[in-house]
Amino acid sequence: MLNPHADVEQAALTLDVSGGGVAWLIFDRPGSKVNLLTQQVLQRLDDLLAGIEESIAAGSIRALVIRSGKPASFIAGADVNAIAGVTDAAEGKRLSREGQRIYRRLELLRVPSVAAVDGLCLGGGTELILACGHRIASDRPETRIGLPEVRLGILPGFGGTTRLPRLVGMKEALPLILTGSPVSARKALRIGLVDEVVHPAILQRRAEALALEAAEGRSSPGARRSRTLATRLLDRTSPGRKLVLGQARKRVMKETRGHYPAPRAALETIERSIDAPLDHAFELEAEALGRLIATGVSKNLIHVFHLMEAAKKAGPAVRLEKMADVVGVIGAGVMGGGIAQLAASRGLGVRLKDIRADAIGQGLRHARELFDHAVRRRRMDARAAAQAMDRIGPTLDYTGFAHADVVIEAVVERMDVKQRVLREVEAHVRPGAVLATNTSTLSVTEMQSVLSRPADFCGMHFFNPVHRMPLVEVIRGKASGDAAVATVFALARALDKTPLIVNDGPGFLVNRILSPYLNEAGWILVEGASVETIDSVLVDFGMPMGPLRLLDEVGLDVARHAAAVLHTAFGERMQPSPVLGALADTKLLGRKGGRGFYRYEEDREADVNPEIYDLLKLAVPADRAGVPPDCILERCVLAMVNEAARVLEDGVVREAGEVDLGMITGTGFPPFRGGLLKWADTLGPRTLLGRLEELERSYGTRFSPALSIRQMADEGRGFYA
Ligand code: NAI
Repeated sequence: MLNPHADVEQAALTLDVSGGGVAWLIFDRPGSKVNLLTQQVLQRLDDLLAGIEESIAAGSIRALVIRSGKPASFIAGADVNAIAGVTDAAEGKRLSREGQRIYRRLELLRVPSVAAVDGLCLGGGTELILACGHRIASDRPETRIGLPEVRLGILPGFGGTTRLPRLVGMKEALPLILTGSPVSARKALRIGLVDEVVHPAILQRRAEALALEAAEGRSSPGARRSRTLATRLLDRTSPGRKLVLGQARKRVMKETRGHYPAPRAALETIERSIDAPLDHAFELEAEALGRLIATGVSKNLIHVFHLMEAAKKAGPAVRLEKMADVVGVIGAGVMGGGIAQLAASRGLGVRLKDIRADAIGQGLRHARELFDHAVRRRRMDARAAAQAMDRIGPTLDYTGFAHADVVIEAVVERMDVKQRVLREVEAHVRPGAVLATNTSTLSVTEMQSVLSRPADFCGMHFFNPVHRMPLVEVIRGKASGDAAVATVFALARALDKTPLIVNDGPGFLVNRILSPYLNEAGWILVEGASVETIDSVLVDFGMPMGPLRLLDEVGLDVARHAAAVLHTAFGERMQPSPVLGALADTKLLGRKGGRGFYRYEEDREADVNPEIYDLLKLAVPADRAGVPPDCILERCVLAMVNEAARVLEDGVVREAGEVDLGMITGTGFPPFRGGLLKWADTLGPRTLLGRLEELERSYGTRFSPALSIRQMADEGRGFYA
């Protein structure tokens, strides 16, 4: 039978031989914005290479150029679904060996080969260009070259782990392979990953000229850029290499805390293979890939990748008349200042209003510090930062608000104040402008009930610190219209955030699920576990910080307020632990005040506040009976799982995947576990119910199992279908 996809695969990669004997291999996947290296495309490449070899022997091909047929997009990498489908190490190794074989065939062609990279070049795409004799890239910002495999829990297995360190040296190769971050064309040129960078308009012409020059022996293939003496010493001498590897190992251990096997495996593979003959190096690379591709961590990371991709497309299907390019921000505090800085950094015009001149001054200072930091970290150049800062227009009245497309309110967390402010804003903006509140606990539906255009209003809940936390909850109040939700969704995307649409309800998604978790940590503290033990158990589980440290970051006053709101809304099961209440009369505010469960002093790692047990009227740690670590872990995490089940029952979001996405991007729940509910599913529904019932017997209604968890246990199904 004919393969219906055969035409598509044929068209995805074509060969065109020009009059001068230059063969062009052109990647152009029909009906897709990006080129992917599927099994079929690789097979097609292999077939075409066989033909090219024959033509070379016959003298009709003198050089080869590889390019993409898509504007500003080269090759996005392998097909993620294919990686997800491999569950067996031997099969993974076989696929790696097959890819390596085809790329080696390209490398061994008896004519010069040139890769012309215009646009994003990732994973297998980068490994492909590494097998070419020359690489030339366009200088547009979209051109970025990288090996993001570790982010999917694997390593570059089509020769990339082997070839990159040989090409650019270990010192430059390791960050690319171990972090997965792509580099710009300029950086690629600097480290020797590409040989030339040119304007996109002349890329093809220059690639062809280079190919012909090489064919005529006027330019030697693979001519290296000369590296500095220091780099050569580090790369070529044994002590130099030891130093580079040692530093990389330390960084990997610190960043992964041993939870992510891929970077470590990549590092070990490079260490073992760097001096080995090529074929042995490929063998080691393929073996490591096989081991990694079959791990649960890799499957979980791919699951999270899919959640993130789905999130980008989840906005309401509404055609927007215009994307927001001027935003108004009301309230120049912690959140308002952060939102203004973020919007300005992404090229939007910002009006920042407060009622106090000193608050405006403080908000602008905060923004400037963030820009300075970005410049120091080379994420922005100084001129762009200065221009962005100039885009923030401070005001004490509503000057300029008539031009705003979206106004985000970030004043104090009080319903009466917010309603009054929003009504005032309505009177100063153009019809059709969207209003959004950055409330963390208040009802969006109640807030919009006093507005004259309630459909133009919804929630836009950022997380603190705004510049760092990826999640934005887009909250749909009862009267919010699709256009408002879609506008705020699109704005969040334009700010490089992950928007998650949630229905209105106390605590929305993330704060509601976090609340019983934070409470539980407090109860455990009261029972006699130490601050260090509680936090380290959750950090060992993979959370970016423990629950008590998180309370400090949120601010003890803010956390107390949120806990009270959720207690009122949900009753007994959300009863706050006595801890926050007991600290109400102290001066402790958490990190912002320098003291909370920890003490924060400049130039010092935060350590546990020595007064904390005294203030809580608890026995000092040495006398404390303690709660066993596995019990701490179970209580804290199952408290979240149980509440997440109720969030789904109440329709705050529809799917387990949305809960998991929210918890990963809003709290840093460990991606290697695939998400909160993905993790819960590994327990099995009956065990989950059994554990909750047991906890309920010991600790009461806080752990009464959600109805849907009982149903899941009856039906033997998990949160995911
Ligand atoms: P903040 O106290 O730092 O800032 C509030 C600012 O609003 C102050 O500068 C105040 O002068 C100003 N303000 C008060 N009334 C105003 C009015 N009528 N017009 C203009 N400005 C006015 O508070 P923060 O932390 O920035 O919180 C703002 C909102 O964001 C609250 O609703 C809060 O619940 C929410 N939020 C806070 C988070 C946090 O971690 N701090 C996280 C997510 C949301």
